[in-house]
Amino acid sequence: MLHGQCRGQIDHVAPLTLTLACLTIQYLFFFYMKANRTNSPEWNCIHTNDSATMFPTNFAWGAATSAYQIEGGWDVDDKGPSIWDTFCHEGGRLVFEGQSGDVTCNSYELWEEDLRCIRQLGLTHYRLSLSWSRLLPEGITQHVNQKGLRYYNKVINDLLASDVLPMVTLYHFDLPQALQDQGGWKSPEIAAIFDSYARFCFETFGDRVKLWITLNEPYVCAKLGHEDGIFAPGVKEPGMAAYLVGHNMLRGHARAWHSYNVLYRAKQGGSVSLAINSDWAEPLDPASPDDTAATERYLAFTLGWFAWPLFVTGDYPEVMRSSIEVRSKELGYQEGSRLPRFSKDEPSLLGTADFFALNYYTSRRVKQGECCPGVLGLKSDQDAEGVVDPSWPVCGVSWLAVVPDGLRKLLKYVKDTFNNPAVYITENGFSQVGPVDMEDVQRCGFYHDIIQEVARALREDGVDVRGYFAWSLLDNFEWADGFSVRFGLFHVDFSRPERPRTAYRSGREYAGIISKYRSQTMVNT
Ligand code: GAL
Repeated sequence: MLHGQCRGQIDHVAPLTLTLACLTIQYLFFFYMKANRTNSPEWNCIHTNDSATMFPTNFAWGAATSAYQIEGGWDVDDKGPSIWDTFCHEGGRLVFEGQSGDVTCNSYELWEEDLRCIRQLGLTHYRLSLSWSRLLPEGITQHVNQKGLRYYNKVINDLLASDVLPMVTLYHFDLPQALQDQGGWKSPEIAAIFDSYARFCFETFGDRVKLWITLNEPYVCAKLGHEDGIFAPGVKEPGMAAYLVGHNMLRGHARAWHSYNVLYRAKQGGSVSLAINSDWAEPLDPASPDDTAATERYLAFTLGWFAWPLFVTGDYPEVMRSSIEVRSKELGYQEGSRLPRFSKDEPSLLGTADFFALNYYTSRRVKQGECCPGVLGLKSDQDAEGVVDPSWPVCGVSWLAVVPDGLRKLLKYVKDTFNNPAVYITENGFSQVGPVDMEDVQRCGFYHDIIQEVARALREDGVDVRGYFAWSLLDNFEWADGFSVRFGLFHVDFSRPERPRTAYRSGREYAGIISKYRSQTMVNT
């Protein structure tokens, strides 16, 4: 990923000025309150009086992290290596300044500091991921690492004791290296191996964990990890490996969901889904049939790739299959479809999501692709080009155009296309690059705006949104961008061994938003 400086203004200058004034007053108020009563629930600022934006009583107010990005302790207490350990250690050139997640926030040692942050925000839910190779160093259930087990048991128990419900992701990009050595996600056997790992986790933690995500963003694992080679495991096989990897991830997910359904649902009563990332996309020129068709392909090759099999047909979107076939023919590709088919003998995909888990960051306007007709690759199959509207501010990472109302549109699209599922927004956030800005007013404005859009989706569009998880609780190891990009509600000082966590202004803002809406729902029920 590229590193971009903030090159835009958050849209509405007048509200921002008001926001600044409000923030200043409330900031002074915060210090006053802190001086007088450190743990006052009133220590934050919120700048809306819009009582129409109510959330349901049991709305999940969350923040998310992932194991490799925060835990550190990469080789302690018998943890096995993961593909990200290998990628950072051996493919160092590909990560910003050769950095790694060896220590990162050191949450393996400092979990209680994270818990303090979670409590300070007033979260009702916390989304974390399990490090597969911390629990099962070789990836298989024959060898369980008791120390890893103890760690996650403590995390889960501490959360529950603090009235915070865990949402647990089984896999967030960090495959055990031992499994990669046997072919990783390209190997068909991985689906059954993932299923045993999932069963082990349901069996071990499912008495307390009721919200499960099997896999985080299979699109990113497939495309960035196996097409572009810029994420672990660094495989670069354009137009081939990504489809195979996506396919095996879906097969693994389906098996795990069926295992839960048959073996655990009745006694544990939880829900299982798969976290799908997607931009919102709309035609660059709404009057152009080419741009409209390109937009359909753009969405089919991201959201549709993983949502269609689960929610619509049990198979890939038709337009994805036909585009790949057409391109294969043009290239004279002879060896059957590059997009595998699901076997009738395997557990079916359709219906294997108990809710829609959506990761949304940005939007694009889409036109027909200008890319490389003679080239084998996902981009050429997709034949669609996403562009950033010049009016959208881009802050932090260069791909992240900040478009809060894109989330509302995407939620409506999910409702209409996937039969009105219950939706959790499992990731959404705003990044910062360059010198640290603790008074991150733009991010405060962003959280305010995005929560308003979620409220509109709920109230005006009737989308069944069940929760919102901010990415991220902490500044952390942002994959190929290393520590150069900060998404946290809490700043982490990576230069100090104690890795101190300090709330950004946006952290206080988010706490205020949560406290306001939670108290409103309490008053109104
Ligand atoms: C997502 C990913 C997270 C985080 C975020 C911000 O794709 O799931 O781990 O890195 O992007 O870039």
